[in-house]
Amino acid sequence: MDIFRWPRPRPARGRWQRPRGLMNPHTHPDEMPTSTRTPVSKTESTARLVPTRRLTDLPTYVFAWLDELKAEARAAGADLIDLGMGNPDQPTPKPIIDAIAAAYADPRTHGYPPFRGTEQFRQSAAGFMRRRFGVELDAAREVLCVSGAKEGIAQATIAFADENTVSLVPDIYYPVHARATGLVGGRTHLMALRADRGFLPDFREIPSGVLRSARLMVLNYPHNPTGAVAPLEFFRDAVALCRERGILLISDLAYSELTFDGITAPSALQVPGAKDVVIEFHSFSKTFNMAGSRIGFAAGGRELIDALHAVRTNMGYGTPAPIQAGAAYALDHIRELERPVVARYAERRDAVVDGFRSLGWAAEPPHATMFVWLPIPAGFGAQEWTRHVIDRAGVVVTPGNAFGPGGERFFRVSLIADPLVLGKAIDRLRAAGIGWLDTCS
Ligand SMILES: Cc1ncc(COP(=O)(O)O)c(C=O)c1O
Repeated sequence: MDIFRWPRPRPARGRWQRPRGLMNPHTHPDEMPTSTRTPVSKTESTARLVPTRRLTDLPTYVFAWLDELKAEARAAGADLIDLGMGNPDQPTPKPIIDAIAAAYADPRTHGYPPFRGTEQFRQSAAGFMRRRFGVELDAAREVLCVSGAKEGIAQATIAFADENTVSLVPDIYYPVHARATGLVGGRTHLMALRADRGFLPDFREIPSGVLRSARLMVLNYPHNPTGAVAPLEFFRDAVALCRERGILLISDLAYSELTFDGITAPSALQVPGAKDVVIEFHSFSKTFNMAGSRIGFAAGGRELIDALHAVRTNMGYGTPAPIQAGAAYALDHIRELERPVVARYAERRDAVVDGFRSLGWAAEPPHATMFVWLPIPAGFGAQEWTRHVIDRAGVVVTPGNAFGPGGERFFRVSLIADPLVLGKAIDRLRAAGIGWLDTCS
């Protein structure tokens, strides 16, 4: 696949052309069609203030489109079952909340939190990595508290990508994996993901010219949205490539603990030598229903962590210390805390897979994450299908192209409701005549 470029390439000379129908705020008034020019009075001298091209040239954020669609449907009186967002619906477990509250009662937590995270938090993170993956980390220098994996990934991108570099991103991606590169003016090369390869990219397909400029690769297994889990062997290949070429491997393990059917997800840091090239991001949002608390951690070699730390110290102060105390408690008690969360998602997954099978889909149960990724019947584009399902059945799903062009033939169902509600969604689809082979008249 060709390099997917942000900002869009401009001709070396002559005028840069915006796709038809979009008005770029950077367009000089003289370049606008006469009909759209705002008359400027001779005495008026206010300059137009516009965001940078790095921002305005980002492709449409499909989730924003979906929000508008939902708002429109609700305004028209629709009662929607929303299975679109990946926002956990359950509360943070009580013992974690108690640990946060106890820490908050201590005035020593009321100042700015330490830049790298509290000692207690970093020790708990290092202990988790040792027990869970057999990975030894120096809690002082190889672990960093971040305000969620998403923000951490964007900051690691700032540290290693710029307008001269290419980032390698699988073409079905969690938006920040590619868009952060766009925001720093870099280019993204999308690596095709195919179902018959278990939604893992084939590194041999990356053109050598692209590899020469590549400075960053983002991998996310267990994978949102497909639910694919990568074997350690795959991470071995990725680490070998990144070591050979001098590429930072950002490994997003936001779903490492949400696995089913006896499957365990590996860490890229298990690969010998990985610390030279890997920053791995762990999140508390899904495993512990702590999405609102904004906490995660980065783990990796000390120089890489130092670079991420340097970006972060220039931007903010990090997650409040009481939240770090709750997160440390969570990691220290992960086995008992995660069990009910994982069991709940497994039960919901079965309800959704069985439901879509009853509608004619040849759905395979994913072994991880809180999503079911399904193909779209012929004749629909991703957004068209989403609109159709909302209009006909009042059920919200995410169009696959929210995750890049590779998702155009798919949609995602989030497991954020109990089986009763999920069953109701399936009933609504059936009643609306929506099925894999049915004509949705
Ligand atoms: C793959 C992936 N990474 C990261 C995140 C965000 O994690 P956090 O809440 O820790 O920022 C999500 C949230 O949906 C995700 O799907």
